[in-house]
Amino acid sequence: DASDKGEFRHYMLKEIYEQPKVIAACLEGRISDDRILTSCFGADSAFLKDIENIHIVACGTSYHAGMVAKYWIEDLANIPCTVEVASEYRYRKVAIPKNTLFLTLSQSGETADTLAALRMAKELNYLTTLAICNVPSSTLVRESDLTLLTNAGAEIGVASTKAFTTQLTALLITSIAIASEKGELSAEKQKALVTALRSLPAYVDAAIKQDEAIKLVSEQFANKHNALFLGRGPMFPIALEGALKLKEISYIHAEAYPAGELKHGPLALVDETMPIITVAPNNQMLDKLKSNLQEVRARGGELFVFGAKETGFEQAEGIHYNEIPWVEEILEPIVHTIPLQLLSYHVAVVKGTDVDQPRNLAKSVTVE
Ligand code: AGP
Repeated sequence: DASDKGEFRHYMLKEIYEQPKVIAACLEGRISDDRILTSCFGADSAFLKDIENIHIVACGTSYHAGMVAKYWIEDLANIPCTVEVASEYRYRKVAIPKNTLFLTLSQSGETADTLAALRMAKELNYLTTLAICNVPSSTLVRESDLTLLTNAGAEIGVASTKAFTTQLTALLITSIAIASEKGELSAEKQKALVTALRSLPAYVDAAIKQDEAIKLVSEQFANKHNALFLGRGPMFPIALEGALKLKEISYIHAEAYPAGELKHGPLALVDETMPIITVAPNNQMLDKLKSNLQEVRARGGELFVFGAKETGFEQAEGIHYNEIPWVEEILEPIVHTIPLQLLSYHVAVVKGTDVDQPRNLAKSVTVE
């Protein structure tokens, strides 16, 4: 029952812990042993083959999910993809290339700007409109041509957690389906991706097991006023999401930057009072990230690094390292979100804020 906190102190923590279960529910009936079951997009999935461009439009956390999807779609399906916040999209003239899919992301399906963007898009020359949404009875679902439900169950905490990771799961399903229908994925590669997806609930469960260790780290944030999140590649939107979560519920001013942008400005903010949080990817960008972090350390910044053992990070002076499980690279944005959710949750508890109902915010922004 969604309205029952059970053994948990807050809905947010309960919803963080529900993620293995709801991600499994999001995968249910959408994958076979070796491929995506394209029937999950409705009876006629022929549109997948015709897509030549994608416009993703969303707000807040859902927008961050869209930013991750851009990396997946361009990488796997070789299709240009743009991502825009709905409040900007709806008030400008948009150029729409032939055969563009209009894709909205929303937990509630009632966000005013996202709905207005959809209504505008329906008057324009899109191939079709697809909503990835958590609420089956929502206006967004009713008004979109196609829907892929995220199946996360009711989310009560204002800070979105399970809605985000299930959106990412649905977006990865969509990216693989488009790539495969467009002939960009070998059967072997598709099978490897689907096999990775099957392991996702277990990986997320393993990441949640770091809860106690992350709780200890959170005490370091009790007196902080600012925080800087860094990421590279698809971990950049995860850094943005980590910063949003921290500011939303702990009221600590947090910013996120692509690590390569440090020297273009934000490095000036770094001194011994500034915590820098990063989730290390286990790929060719790791060395580049490490050299960015050295720059930060050299200026006295205190590092909080989450990464798999394979990244080679260790606890050291000024470096707080927390191990998270190794996962296939494609899944990193989903699994690596978990430590950042737990960090912001525990920091908010340390600061004594109203975790589930932070000041000035509503669960769903139904008026502009
Ligand atoms: C996330 O923690 C937020 N509370 C907020 O950014 C939210 O994601 C945004 O308002 C979009 O809501 P939606 O997904 O219901 O459209």
